[in-house]
Amino acid sequence: MKTLKEAYKEYFPIGVAVSPEILRKQGVFIAEQFDSITAENEMKFDALEPELGRFEFEEADQMVAFAREHQLKMRGHTLVWHQQIPQSIFEWENGGIISREESLKRMGNHIQRVVDRYKEDVYCWDVLNEVINDGEGYLRDTKWLQVIGEDYMEYAFRFAYEADSKSVLFYNDYNAIVPKKRDKIYELVKGLKAKGVPIHGIGIQGHWNIGDHNAWNLEAALKKFARLDLQIQITELDMSMYAFSDAKTHPELKGPTYEMLKRQEEEYDAVFRLFRRYKDYISGVTFWGVSDDYTWLDNFPVKYRKNWPFLFDEKGEVKAAYSKVINFNK
Ligand code: XIL
Repeated sequence: MKTLKEAYKEYFPIGVAVSPEILRKQGVFIAEQFDSITAENEMKFDALEPELGRFEFEEADQMVAFAREHQLKMRGHTLVWHQQIPQSIFEWENGGIISREESLKRMGNHIQRVVDRYKEDVYCWDVLNEVINDGEGYLRDTKWLQVIGEDYMEYAFRFAYEADSKSVLFYNDYNAIVPKKRDKIYELVKGLKAKGVPIHGIGIQGHWNIGDHNAWNLEAALKKFARLDLQIQITELDMSMYAFSDAKTHPELKGPTYEMLKRQEEEYDAVFRLFRRYKDYISGVTFWGVSDDYTWLDNFPVKYRKNWPFLFDEKGEVKAAYSKVINFNK
């Protein structure tokens, strides 16, 4: 049977989010199946700079070394986000919120140190993550926005570009195919581009679920984003077994039901068909985990609720959805 990366050789690289622990456990398998890795948490702000000016690179370094050893590409995730960042980054040592200038200095220093350190190995970065509101309103009310103002977004890209002018720089978000949010993302990115901000791609996270028929919205989003003449990547693909509105824990489920697996297969089939059709715009498709034995969805949005969102089952065996994804006529 073909591996994922063999099947998509002429289309786009297939990536996966991992941790050092998962690389130790499943490293051989990962190197066989995938072209690229992303650190699920180890390159986030709080992992790399847990305290102002104190950097910890050990785990990220291990992952970079793995990528190098196995000739895998590596995506960088993520530089500027409202989550997984120590609050002290926005505070003076003796309390109180820092100034705009100080905040820009701290942001610039973080980006400079991180992007420069990995520039030989990390080919792209999610520079800006999840800054658009889901509901009403445009920008998410984050500390970055409060302290710096709207131009924090351009600064983020410019700092990254200064540190590595060859890196492919992304705006990344979830619900990116939901029309309302899609249009806000489109306007944001178009505006940045028009200002000459170095931005090269849109990351559609792709946290989808089998309760939705994703293809319709996906195609409209791909069409719209393609107009921006930037790269598009699916950066965090998983296909949850639960509708987002389902808040129950479902203790009765010891494994996925036949109906769930069937729906999941249909959704994976539908979205991959579209990815292939839009291959001229799509420069990567990355899963947010390897196999059903571990996924962040086991604890999100409902704690301790098992989920089975991938193409490989809890034993690492291929699921029916896998065959659908790798077997297609050109
Ligand atoms: C998640 C990780 O998978 C979890 O392990 C962590 O506890 C929280 O963050 N959007 C993103 C990712 O951009 O960084 C998030 O990753 C999932 C949603």
